[in-house]
Amino acid sequence: MKTPTRFFSLLLLAAASTLFAQPEDTLKLKPSYFEVNDYVEDNEACLICHAEMKFIIEDTTTGRSTHEHMCPDRIIDREVFYTSVHKTFSCTDCHSYDFNTFPHNVETRVEEQLLCMDCHGYDETFAQYHFEDIEMEFQESIHNVEEFTCWKCHDPHSYKAFMRNADDLEEAILYDNNMCLKCHANFLRFTLLTDRDEINILDTHEWLPNQAAHFRSVRCIECHTEINDSILIAHKILPKTEAVQRCTECHSSDSRLMHTLYKFQSREERKGGFINGVIINTTFVIGANQIPALNILSFVILGLTLLGIGFHTFLRIRKQKTD
Ligand code: HEC
Ligand code: HEC
Ligand code: HEC
Ligand code: HEC
Ligand code: HEC
Ligand code: HEC
Ligand code: HEC
Repeated sequence: MKTPTRFFSLLLLAAASTLFAQPEDTLKLKPSYFEVNDYVEDNEACLICHAEMKFIIEDTTTGRSTHEHMCPDRIIDREVFYTSVHKTFSCTDCHSYDFNTFPHNVETRVEEQLLCMDCHGYDETFAQYHFEDIEMEFQESIHNVEEFTCWKCHDPHSYKAFMRNADDLEEAILYDNNMCLKCHANFLRFTLLTDRDEINILDTHEWLPNQAAHFRSVRCIECHTEINDSILIAHKILPKTEAVQRCTECHSSDSRLMHTLYKFQSREERKGGFINGVIINTTFVIGANQIPALNILSFVILGLTLLGIGFHTFLRIRKQKTD
């Protein structure tokens, strides 16, 4: 056996400088990136591999090189990164400079990570988000298992404060639910954090009629968290035995959705589309809204039906007697 004395190295700088010369590559770096981020070119030292489906490794001693696939879990979308909440960052603000070496060594790969609270905790600038309350809820969540950090739901390279800025409620629901489905619809990710068997979301929610419609109209956290009026997004995920299953928790005049999903309409004083959309269309949850005219109409229909049945019975009895 030959000892692997090969030293892979990348012509990173050379590659990065030719990047800007090639037309198809200039398309990759949009002017909008440079507007939000001062390190776009530095970041290319990483994104040259991590934003692509394939990358090149080269052996500088022999001059041979080969293409390899980037594992999909490790691909970062430039467009998504430069529109995320941390769009101003350089990769090495959060990651070690040692990642400039490839192959990345073990010490680098198990680097210590900064957590949300290290930067946002007790900071007035971010007071509206109530990071401290969220942190407390997370501690009590069923997800508080080893290696489960805030980053597991808040993808470091794509997370947006979506719900509070959303114009389209349905789109925001989809965004939030996808944060859960990242693991709950992907057993490979799930299994990194637990030894439990696969949970099939479709099966475990079979009791819910028209699942697809429900998953489009409510978030997972509507049923899986406790109501907390001090934060916009409840974070304490309860054990499954405490999840909401009673239809009337939502389909009633005192719907819990008023304290969860729909609280955005009152918190955010937004004009136009969203409020109208939510109040007039989306909050029309069967049972949760009472429209007087409809109530009267339904009484009238009920009355007429009863009258009809009564009259029919009367006719039948009369017919029997005359027979
Ligand atoms: C030559 C291509 C290449 C370059 C350049 C590169 N990486 Fe990587 N990186 C990889 C590959 C391939 C992996 C998958 C694991 C491995 O093979 O080491 C990886 C893995 C990672 C991981 C995950 C480590 C783990 O074990 O979970 C991080 C984080 C990372 N790279 C960050 C960076 C950063 C930050 C930069 C820029 C400073 C960078 N990489 C530059 C190819 C590259
Ligand atoms: C705000 C901090 C932050 C920034 C900025 C950041 N990362 Fe990360 N990155 C992380 C954290 C935290 C993880 C680990 C995520 C986890 O535990 O699931 C990570 C994981 C990774 C991984 C492993 C695969 C994955 O997604 O879990 C790669 C590759 C990576 N980062 C590359 C980059 C590159 C390239 C950049 C620059 C474009 C970058 N990161 C910018 C915080 C950051
Ligand atoms: C390394 C420090 C650091 C870490 C770790 C970090 N952030 Fe940030 N975050 C910042 C900075 C700095 C900004 C402001 C960026 C700007 O203004 O462009 C920011 C912006 C934000 C914003 C947008 C705030 C606003 O009103 O514009 C949100 C939301 C946010 N971060 C959430 C998180 C969450 C959630 C985590 C953990 C999963 C996290 N951050 C981890 C430093 C950090
Ligand atoms: C189980 C998944 C999950 C975990 C773990 C998690 N979050 Fe969240 N978080 C969410 C979801 C879903 C949202 C809603 C995203 C959106 O649309 O704005 C959110 C939103 C937020 C927001 C924005 C709230 C607002 O008012 O706009 C902050 C800040 C935040 N999380 C911080 C944290 C911190 C800090 C931790 C760790 C202590 C954490 N999150 C862990 C799922 C999670
Ligand atoms: C309408 C309320 C509701 C919604 C919406 C909802 N769930 Fe559930 N979920 C429940 C209830 C109730 C249970 C417990 C079912 C049981 O024990 O039979 C449950 C069970 C679970 C379990 C545990 C299953 C097991 O067998 O261990 C997971 C994981 C889960 N839900 C994730 C999700 C995710 C992810 C979403 C969003 C895509 C979601 N839920 C949406 C009410 C809901
Ligand atoms: C990073 C992966 C990941 C994400 C993202 C994630 N979960 Fe989980 N979830 C897990 C794991 C792992 C477990 C099993 C924990 C254990 O070992 O008991 C779990 C368990 C659960 C359970 C079952 C609890 C019980 O009593 O058995 C529910 C309910 C649940 N998650 C809901 C959610 C919701 C709602 C979201 C989104 C807000 C979410 N999860 C996001 C990985 C994830
Ligand atoms: C977490 C809150 C919540 C719970 C719990 C809940 N629902 Fe719903 N349900 C909704 C919302 C929101 C809609 C969508 C309303 C709309 O868009 O018109 C809906 C829609 C429906 C619809 C119409 C679906 C369609 O075809 O469009 C039916 C029927 C329904 N729910 C029955 C039930 C039953 C039965 C249960 C109990 C097993 C239940 N729901 C539990 C919130 C909930």
